Amino acid sequence: MTDSKHNMGALTQELIAKGQRYYVPNYKPREMILDHGLGAKIWDLDGKDYIDLGAGIAVNSLGHQHPVLVEALEKQLKKLWHTSNIFYTEPTIELAELLVESSNFAKRVFFCNSGAEANEAAIKLARKHAANRGRAPHQREIVTFHGSFHGRTLATVTATAQPKYHEGFEPLPGGFMYATAYNDEEAVNAVVNENTCAILVEPVQGEGGIIPSKPGFLKFLRHKCDEVGALLMLDQVQCGMMRTGKLFSHWHEDGVMPDTVSLAKALGCGLPIGALLVGEKVQDVLQFGSHGTTFGGNPLATAVALAGFRILKSPEIEANVEAMGQLLRAELDVINQSMQCFTEISGRGLMIGAVLKPEWHGKANDISEMCRKAGVLVLVAGPNVMRFLPPLNITEDELHHGLARFRNALEAFSQGLSEPPKAEGNFIKRLMKSLKG
Ligand SMILES: Cc1ncc(COP(=O)(O)O)c(C=O)c1O
Repeated sequence: MTDSKHNMGALTQELIAKGQRYYVPNYKPREMILDHGLGAKIWDLDGKDYIDLGAGIAVNSLGHQHPVLVEALEKQLKKLWHTSNIFYTEPTIELAELLVESSNFAKRVFFCNSGAEANEAAIKLARKHAANRGRAPHQREIVTFHGSFHGRTLATVTATAQPKYHEGFEPLPGGFMYATAYNDEEAVNAVVNENTCAILVEPVQGEGGIIPSKPGFLKFLRHKCDEVGALLMLDQVQCGMMRTGKLFSHWHEDGVMPDTVSLAKALGCGLPIGALLVGEKVQDVLQFGSHGTTFGGNPLATAVALAGFRILKSPEIEANVEAMGQLLRAELDVINQSMQCFTEISGRGLMIGAVLKPEWHGKANDISEMCRKAGVLVLVAGPNVMRFLPPLNITEDELHHGLARFRNALEAFSQGLSEPPKAEGNFIKRLMKSLKG
């Protein structure tokens, strides 16, 4: 039994053993049972608290138990849970209107349940659009980028360019072409041609290491699409919904009009929902009977998404993302000045990556585990990048406290300890003070 197992209650140990016994082993959950949350804090079954700087991978963008969301959910809970798309419901229609009218480009929306499903709908729409225009199947290629991530269904995993996601799942669907480098016009020119029916791209690559598109790149892609009659499809599953400081992340660049935008994650603030927003040119492509999903637009999910969206698009959240994004970067800089542990801090708004120094390459997951032991939940983006996606309404105090614990974890890791020292009372105050510089 490891040291940390000594700190686990009997129920925690029993549940973990059952999880390990009964789940398909495609995930490797941390050895704790998360039980409840409030704001940017979360508690496990044994009462240990964590500052949540990952927000369930960019999902809980208003933290845990936001009172407005709880109220919206409770209200809908007592009315109607599910109808299927054979029927209309009020929150789903209201959400459709608000999303479309806020987007500055979309005319209509298709609701589904996840990011992969939103991208899957985009892929099908692009193919159908090309087919409607008389293009043969070999003229319906979709271009994506090295370093991308678009989901785990067979089509979206094929859209995800890296072979490690494909191995063993062959035969893969055809018609995907990969630009060998993100932010690289030449790489795009090499694969986009008259057979291209769409470019699918993340305005900020997430899983690929938190890499924002360089200024002018999305506009370049728009021109390129127009040149060959292709659609520009933006995957904003991770970077959308104010995560980068703008409601839609292509708003960082003037004059980029996408044809589709895929959303999920933060849209539901914790409930599963996805959406594909479609622009004028393609608003009628998915005709009656051409596509669908049973749970899409489920009123429990849309009631919460509607309440959440109204808050996420507010000037207060926009200002908080700006301020807390700067604070997060500043405090990571302070840590880096004293520890020299990162070679780069990248990202936008509250979507931030810290690239580990070469000696720590491959260690991101071990550091994330040390963070958990230190009471802070930090994600990774690949083996070399620590990824921060805190709730967008995180307070200065919560962020500061989380980063003090992060620093405690890094120090323990650099000293080769198996557990961080207990960071309570004066010790955490000293760490917090050191971050303020
Ligand atoms: C950019 C991007 N697209 C698509 C997906 C897939 O979303 P989901 O896991 O909801 O299917 C993700 C998930 O991490 C993502 O980051």
